[in-house]
Amino acid sequence: MTIKTLSVLLSTLVLALQVSAFPQYGTLAGLDARQVERVVPTLNARVPPPPPGPPAFTGAKLVDDRDHPWRPLRQGDIRGPCPGLNTLASHGYLPRNGVATPTQIINAVQEGFNMVNNGAKIATYAAHILEGNVVTDLLSIGGKTSLTGPDAPPPASIGGISHHGTFEGDASITRGDAFFGDNHSFNQTLFDQFVDFSNRFGNGFYNYTVGGELRFHRIQQSIATNPEFSIRGFRHTTAYGEAAFIANIFVDGRKTGAEAHQLDMDSARSFFKDMRYPRGFFRSNKPTAGEGADIIFAAHPTEPGHNVGGVNSFVVDTSMGGVLDQCLFYTQLVNVTIKGLYPSPTGILRRNLNINLGFLYEAIGFPPSCPQVFPFGTN
Ligand code: HEM
Ligand SMILES: *[C@@H]1O[C@H](CO)[C@@H](O)[C@H](O)[C@H]1NC(C)=O
Ligand SMILES: *[C@@H]1O[C@H](CO)[C@@H](O)[C@H](O)[C@H]1NC(C)=O
Ligand SMILES: *[C@@H]1O[C@H](CO)[C@@H](O)[C@H](O)[C@H]1NC(C)=O
Ligand SMILES: *[C@@H]1O[C@H](CO)[C@@H](O)[C@H](O)[C@H]1NC(C)=O
Repeated sequence: MTIKTLSVLLSTLVLALQVSAFPQYGTLAGLDARQVERVVPTLNARVPPPPPGPPAFTGAKLVDDRDHPWRPLRQGDIRGPCPGLNTLASHGYLPRNGVATPTQIINAVQEGFNMVNNGAKIATYAAHILEGNVVTDLLSIGGKTSLTGPDAPPPASIGGISHHGTFEGDASITRGDAFFGDNHSFNQTLFDQFVDFSNRFGNGFYNYTVGGELRFHRIQQSIATNPEFSIRGFRHTTAYGEAAFIANIFVDGRKTGAEAHQLDMDSARSFFKDMRYPRGFFRSNKPTAGEGADIIFAAHPTEPGHNVGGVNSFVVDTSMGGVLDQCLFYTQLVNVTIKGLYPSPTGILRRNLNINLGFLYEAIGFPPSCPQVFPFGTN
């Protein structure tokens, strides 16, 4: 065997190892055509099935039940920035390893938290297209898993716009900004601040009033400390929605009247830190999602924007839309962000992207004045 053949053989082997190490849930978002061409043949391709509808029964019920015991993490289990999905995985409503199909996620958030059907579909398909593997129809709840090793795209180039192009974003309530090197983990200092605000503005409970103050404060903290802070488009929308989930979805469904939408601190700690239902938890008594986000926004309306020259250089940038312009936010998410993450998809990748984009648009249910956009053509 000549040196040349040997070196060709070796580099082929290295390549094969890299590709075989690429998990089935690893995302194709951000890969160039050459990388996609190598990875796709190693994947178990699947036609995405239509999304599930709402469940037959949508009232309150015990969800911390016998069939869904909480279990501690095992080696290799994946958890991420979403306390809702983390909890569902730790109780077995989702596969306990943290890897699921969009269908499994929609069914789990409906069953385990009574999340409203269209809200469940919007969040799930957006996350799947931005951070999941649309060829295998799998995504992990740990956020973006990209190709690693020498072939990996440089992080700043992912999406061609910046790492803020994914679902995960800045100014989270209990998680640090990506700029500080955090990777989705629970932050005790930030949780202490959550408790402090709940004491000061909610008499020991988190409610929309607390949400309004804390959401604003987290944005101010990020403006003052994170030179790369950004809250635009999709993230502007989710930042307000998630602050509302805490008062809607994490509150026991048997609480009504003055007790509704008031979350006690033991329950909050259970979800955020332990990824566990409070003992004997009942899910919401009606399908729900971001109700109250408007109250939280109205307390201190902050327009979308970003720091442009170091800390404390925040400028408003409404070009990607946000809570005040949902149609623009949809259009830019698909036409700019998602288009940028998939430069020139072909074959199964393009077909599955288009199917998932169709599910996303249908779930949002826009009036005809906000038409669907087709960054990868129609087929
Ligand atoms: C339907 C599928 C869902 C997906 C794909 C999803 C995904 C995510 C992601 C990616 C984040 C991180 C955003 C960030 O803060 O940077 C997040 C945050 C969050 N999610 Fe979910 N989520 C889903 C459903 C839920 C449900 C059902 C709940 C409530 C039970 C929930 C509650 C939250 C909360 C409270 C945060 C904010 C955490 C914080 O700011 O510290 N999510 N979610
Ligand atoms: C994630 O955070 C842990 C500590 O919280 C750190 O050791 C690790 O290097 C981080 N990983 C990445 C990829 O940032
Ligand atoms: C938690 O957040 C605080 C405040 O942003 C920060 O100073 C600290 O370094 C973070 N802790 C960890 C472990 O990331
Ligand atoms: C939140 O709790 C505080 C303290 O009990 C109360 O004054 C405020 O009205 C509550 N806000 C909402 C929206 O329930
Ligand atoms: C979407 O982007 C294409 C160019 O890629 C552009 O021609 C089209 O006008 C955009 N659509 C919208 C609604 O912005």
